[in-house]
This record gives sequence, structure tokens and C-alpha cells, in this order.
Amino acid sequence: MTRLTLPVVLRLLTIGGIVLVLGVVFAVAAGWLPPHRLTPGAIVDALEAHDGRHPGFRRAHAKGLCIAGSFASNGNGASLSKARVFARTDSPVIGRFSTGGGQPYAPDGRLAFRSLALSLTQANGEQWRMALDDTPIFPVATPQAFFDFLRATSPDPKTGKPDPARIDAYMADHPETRAFLRWQQQSPLSTSFANETFYSINAFRFIDDTSKTWMVRWSFEPETPFEAIDKATLGAQPANFLFDDVIARLARGPLRWRLIVTIAEPGDPTDDATVVWPANRNRIDVGTLVIDRAMIEENGACRNITFDPLILPSGIAPSDDPLLPARSGVYASSLARRDGEHGKPSALAENPQARRAQP
Ligand code: HEM
Repeated sequence: MTRLTLPVVLRLLTIGGIVLVLGVVFAVAAGWLPPHRLTPGAIVDALEAHDGRHPGFRRAHAKGLCIAGSFASNGNGASLSKARVFARTDSPVIGRFSTGGGQPYAPDGRLAFRSLALSLTQANGEQWRMALDDTPIFPVATPQAFFDFLRATSPDPKTGKPDPARIDAYMADHPETRAFLRWQQQSPLSTSFANETFYSINAFRFIDDTSKTWMVRWSFEPETPFEAIDKATLGAQPANFLFDDVIARLARGPLRWRLIVTIAEPGDPTDDATVVWPANRNRIDVGTLVIDRAMIEENGACRNITFDPLILPSGIAPSDDPLLPARSGVYASSLARRDGEHGKPSALAENPQARRAQP
């Protein structure tokens, strides 16, 4: 047996110290300790607590429809980014229309995000994925605020309803969320996915051939003229009215959106998705998105991928917005949970026009 002499004790303390330091390093890296305590998995747990667990479905934007088409670049984007998608060429697109929230059968007549997700494939195989909402700004600026907002608005297990005191406490600390909700209540809402504008919300960097960087946001603006829905009628609309409408429109012909890139000026915030940039910023029309097919998720290519906003071609890079890396991790965690789960049919599974459509 080894005797506990001073050198032996010192050696044991050194080994123990190294093990402890390594343990702390691993724990921090894995997000178990501050400063990264908020893990993607914890955010997905909070999404499930908020909207219930629905096996096989996305943990946010659970209700959706696969779509496909192409992006026709007009060449204007090549002055901002060397991404091949901006050469004067067409790129194939797959995508997804969705509504916000984690409930896959929620009625469409709600004040929730209406969203468009896209994956553009360049000739060299690189992809540009994105997930866009119908609002130019987001209710929160940081992943922590997203998590706190979810927790504050989740049903209280005792009453089955959100606790107004928790919501008030959250709002007192987050005037930006209150401002977003007020804006959402007041702004006109379109009648259809087809006449909706979809926004990147987060800022990104475009890098041109000379390595010059442009800070940008972008939006897809519909060629179908805007028409406002009477919000008072929302609750009386059929459960799938938005999706059934876009499926019927696509059966009659393609739908088109212009891709508009907005260029920031010095001082415009690139790390805060709750702040809109001034309206007079330079806007460049870089091409047309043409969507010509819709398929239920069971048949389409959109189901088993994520529209991770950090899957970017060379020439497009993330900004300093803290939401972007969080989104990337959380989308992967949501996919890891839903992939392989056996779920019920999607809400649109019985729509005959979307069932028939081929990927
Ligand atoms: C920290 C902030 C955010 C979190 C935690 C979050 C979380 C999620 C999750 C878990 C999904 C489902 C992923 C999947 O299983 O494929 C999702 C989808 C989506 N998110 Fe976010 N999100 C955030 C911010 C945003 C922002 C800023 C936007 C808009 C620019 C956005 C737009 C979307 C859209 C459109 C989808 C649906 C994509 C699809 O159809 O697959 N999200 N989000």
C-alpha cells in the first residue's frame, strides 16, 4: 500500500486538480454551467412545455406544407455577394410554408407568424437556407429573452393557463416584446400566403468579389397584390384556410416574389432583431422566386431537414446577431427529436390537390 507522504499527497492533489479543471471545461462546453447554461435542448424543452409534445412534428412552426420552384437571379446581387446564386442564372428551390407555434393542427385564423422557409441550391452544390417570418422584426433580441418569454407565457400546471403575473413581470423587463405585440395587433394582415411579404429579420453579411462586406437584411415581396383580411373574421375562418388557399392558387399557376436586399448604413443595428432599420435604406431587387408546386409534408422534401439560417454559401455569412447561432442549435435539436418519431398525419394530409402533387 502507498503511504500518504507529502509528495504523494501533492501528486494526488495535482491529478485531482487537473481532473476538476477538465470537468469544468467540459461542463461549460456542454452548456451545463454558466456562462452557456441555456442549451438548445433547454429551449426545445421550453417549446414543448409551451405547446405540448407532438411526436414527429417540428417543435416550432409545426403546421406546414412543402413547396418547390426556382429562383431566377437578375444579376444585380453579384455586386454585393460572390455567392453563385446571384449570377444571372436559375437555382432550384425547395421550401415550406408554415404558421408559428408548436401545435400541428392549430387553426390558421390566429395572430401567429406566417412563414416561408427556403433552400436554394447553387450550381456548385452549395445551399442557401433561410426561414423567414411575415414581420420585419422579432419580439426578442436574445436567446435568453426567447426562453424567458416562452416560460412566462406557458400554461401554469395548476390552472392550465398562463399566469398573468408572470407575463407582466416579463413585459416589465422587455419593452421591446410589448412594442412588437402592439405593432402586430395594429398592422394589417394579408388574406393569403400568396400576397404576404416575408423577412429575414436577422442581419447577415454579404461578401463581394473584392472581399468587401455589406451588412444586409432581405425580404421576399409578393407580385400578387396585397389585400388585407378583416381581423375580426379570423376566428370564423376554416381551420386550414391559409394552406388550402395557397394549394388552390398553385393548382392554377405559379406564384412569384421579388427578392429585395436592404443595405445597412453605419450605425444600423445588426445584432438586434427587435429594431427596424430606417425606411430610406438602399434596396436592391436581385431576382424572382417562383413557387409552382405544393406537397403535403408526408410526400415533400421539406420534412426531414431544417431550414437552418447558418447553412450559407460562400459569399454570405452571419452577422453578430446572437439569435443566429441559437437558431442553428435549436433547429438541430428539434430535428433530432422529431426524426424517427412516429407522428400522426399532417393537418393538410387530406387535401386532395396537395396529396397528388409530386416532389
Ligand atoms: C432564438 C430564437 C429562435 C428559436 C429558439 C427558434 C426556434 C425554432 C424551432 C425549434 C423551429 C423548428 C425547427 C425544425 O424542427 O426544423 C423553428 C422553425 C422556424 N423558425 Fe425559428 N426560432 C427562433 C427565431 C426565429 C426567427 C428570428 C425567425 C425569422 C426570421 C424564425 C423563423 C422560423 C421559421 C420560418 C421556421 C419554420 C421553418 C420550417 O418550415 O422548417 N425563427 N424555429
